[in-house]
Amino acid sequence: NGKRDLIGKKVLISAGGTREYLDPVRFIGNPSTGKMGIALAQAALSRGASVTLVHGVLSAGISELGNPQLQAIPVVSAAEMQQALLSEFTTSDITIMCAAVADVKPSVYSAEKLPKKSLPESLSLAPVPDIVAGLGSIKKPHQKLIGFAAQTGDIITPATEKLIRKKLDAIVANPVDEIGSGFGSDRNRAIIISSSGKQQEIAPCSKLEMAHHILDFLPLL
Ligand code: C5P
Repeated sequence: NGKRDLIGKKVLISAGGTREYLDPVRFIGNPSTGKMGIALAQAALSRGASVTLVHGVLSAGISELGNPQLQAIPVVSAAEMQQALLSEFTTSDITIMCAAVADVKPSVYSAEKLPKKSLPESLSLAPVPDIVAGLGSIKKPHQKLIGFAAQTGDIITPATEKLIRKKLDAIVANPVDEIGSGFGSDRNRAIIISSSGKQQEIAPCSKLEMAHHILDFLPLL
């Protein structure tokens, strides 16, 4: 893909999973590897964008992207990811929220490691902020905001509900209950749904090809 259609644009991408620690050695997390977000960063860089990648824990490296147009901001928790995204968002033209944010956190954090015998039998949980919904509510008309919806079973209905509720311009709905798609896979399959009702199916392809398909969809938003 030799396109150079993002010269002069700032693309803000979140990638990887967040972690919510209970104590210094235990956390609530998820199996996100960050591969899709890294692929989006790579695709946007190759198309001439300057990219800010706010990332949780990644299982793949980003140093090979080695590009002066890339700024990487590592974070751990959803609260840190929200803070980083809020400070980068106002100057961003295109924001793609690819990160798998933990939905809940332990209500109490213990700064000391809890001895096994004092671990509670059930864990009291508190919600974490919905980061992309917050961005959707402050978004200016020229800014494009794209989310992801990792789903099992029917992917369209819940993804459409999230698109509307979080005030996104588009959502990439992808099945995570199929071989060759979703968490950790090198390949992906998806349906992109826009707020104006356009839908585009992306047949199974590599995550880098998927990233280019998503960027190709932007002019339709
Ligand atoms: O978890 P959910 O399916 O609602 O995620 C849909 C979109 O919302 C994704 O783009 C995800 O990154 C984002 N999200 C978020 N903050 C959360 C949960 C999800 O920004 N706390």
